[in-house]
Amino acid sequence: VSAAERALADRDLEGLNVVVTAGGTREPIDAVRVIANRSSGKQGHAISEECVRRGANVTVITTTELPTSSTVDRVQVETAAEMQIALDNVAPTADIVVMAAAVADFRPKDSVDGKIKKAGGVPEVILEPTPDLLEAIGRNRQPHQTIVGFAAETCDLVTNARSKLARKCLDLVVANDVSAEGVGFAHGTNAVTLVSADGERDLTLRSKAEIAVGVVNEIVRIRTSMRSVDVGRVSPTN
Ligand code: CTP
Repeated sequence: VSAAERALADRDLEGLNVVVTAGGTREPIDAVRVIANRSSGKQGHAISEECVRRGANVTVITTTELPTSSTVDRVQVETAAEMQIALDNVAPTADIVVMAAAVADFRPKDSVDGKIKKAGGVPEVILEPTPDLLEAIGRNRQPHQTIVGFAAETCDLVTNARSKLARKCLDLVVANDVSAEGVGFAHGTNAVTLVSADGERDLTLRSKAEIAVGVVNEIVRIRTSMRSVDVGRVSPTN
């Protein structure tokens, strides 16, 4: 079925290199315990499948066990540090980077090799900040690249998304209010606001596959409008 869908789809990402991150990172406290988050990776995987359908060469960097199409280059990671190494390998040559993963903002400073035993009392876990992977990609961006971030918010959705768009030098932020019913982490459905330099577009509650179609349409729209600005710049008659 997916081969038939691919044959019938718009091939508007044909030949482009796309990197998608998906899932929540897990940061070890000791040999058996981690600090995790509620991300399921479903939205990232849906975007990756939509990019495959539309002709892209897709690399997925994922923390999850969700399946991927046979043509997807899959990199399995667990921590923010592993995701950073994987991104360093593939992001510089990507045309499009979609950072759907929920990367931990804080991790235990020193993880313990063995299991911390209960008898030792309540342990003190000292946290340190993780590097912002998306911000590094945005700041080192190349002209042909389209960089997309996510914003998981519980209030001031558009204001917070717009500040992430500027601070991380992004083309698009996919913002969702994770406190709303049926939205975001672990659900099969999602509702998002697409925030870019030229405005906002709401995608109301629908399946994550349908949200993925809307996100990819917006990426294509942004890339097309940037190309026409470039053509305008170099043409002596314009
Ligand atoms: N992100 C990242 N590296 C981090 C934290 C976040 O690359 N260490 C990326 C996420 O993948 C997402 C975007 O940044 O695409 C926004 O993540 P979010 O958690 O919504 O925001 P933060 O920038 O972490 O800020 P805050 O948690 O304060 O809202």
